[in-house]
This record gives sequence, structure tokens and C-alpha cells, in this order.
Amino acid sequence: MKIVMIVGSIRKESYNQQVADFMTKRFKDKMTIEQLDIKSLPFFNQDEEEDPPETVKIFKNKIKEADGVLVVTPEYNHSVPGMLKNAIDWVSRGDRVMTGKPVMIVGATPGFLGTVRCQIHLRQIMAAPGVGGRVLPGNEVLIGGVNKKLDGEGGMTDTATVDFLDTVTDNFVKFVEA
Ligand code: FNR
Repeated sequence: MKIVMIVGSIRKESYNQQVADFMTKRFKDKMTIEQLDIKSLPFFNQDEEEDPPETVKIFKNKIKEADGVLVVTPEYNHSVPGMLKNAIDWVSRGDRVMTGKPVMIVGATPGFLGTVRCQIHLRQIMAAPGVGGRVLPGNEVLIGGVNKKLDGEGGMTDTATVDFLDTVTDNFVKFVEA
């Protein structure tokens, strides 16, 4: 099973990147996860949507060839980070490569609410006609207090979170296979 992963933060010490790396390693026997780069994508420009820059073409093609998409993202100002929205906007135009793709969403924040407001928006965005990602229903992975749940060496110290990630990933595998 080929899964592409999109991380909504581009900062070096990103907690979400650490969660993404943890998942990539932990679930390697269940799926092949390739992390995609949103940092190199230019700002979306509708003038270029039919013949976008090469980085966008490569990005879109990786999604096209994948069996599913896994998004790991922080919440910015009660919504989806701009870089992530920018990537989704590119994907939503021209050949709409996300249409029908199974999507799993994970979010982590040092705050208490674990990206819940971002994920509500993200599910709404995924339902837009140009995007059309089929988000795994329920299975809301909201990791609050993430700064206390990572060991800084690639591991997660919070067993309840790890157990939940295991369960949701298994659900996602079944969802992709169905
Ligand atoms: C934040 N942060 C934040 N956290 C949250 O729970 N809800 C929010 O609405 C916001 N808003 C917000 C806006 C902006 C512009 C920044 C930079 C940050 C805090 C955020 O969760 C924290 O910085 C995380 O560490 C960002 O995720 P990464 O980069 O660690 O993955």
C-alpha cells in the first residue's frame, strides 16, 4: 500500500514532523509512506493551474499514484496552515488528483485542543468539489500537549496516543483496501 504523507509545518523542530517521522517508521510494515515536500511549492496561481511549475507537477503526480494520503498538521489561528492550504489549492485544479483518495488526518499541538478547529476546516476543505478527498470518518487524531509526548529521539512516550495511532492506522488500512 503506497501512502503519501503531507506535513503542514515546515519548521525544523516541528512536533508534527516528529509525529510524521514516528508514524513513517512505526507503520512501515503496514504501508510504504513517502513524505512529500510542500516547502518547495510556489504560491498557487490560477494563471498556471493547467500547466503548473515542475515541483507542482511532481507533487501532484505523487498523489495521483498513491493509494491514500496522510496529513499531519498543526493548527494556525484556528484553521489550516497556509502552506498546507496552498498545496491543497494546487491539487484541486487542473487534473484533480485528490478526487476519491482516502485521507487520514492527524494533528498535534502543544495546546490542549489538539488541532480540533483546524481539522474541522480541513474536513470541510477535503469535501470541496475540486479536492474530493475521502476522509476516514470519525477517527479524529487530536494530539494535545504534544511537547510532553515526544522523547526528542524519534519516539513517543505517551502510550495512549501510540495505541490510538495504531488503531486509527489499522482503520485507515481497511478503509483504503475497501
Ligand atoms: C500557532 N499555534 C496554535 N496552536 C493551537 O493549538 N491553535 C492555534 O490556533 C494556533 N495558532 C498558531 C498560529 C501560528 C501562526 C503559529 C506559528 C502557531 C501554536 C502551534 O500549535 C505551535 O507553534 C506548534 O508547535 C506548531 O506545530 P509544529 O510546527 O510544532 O508542528
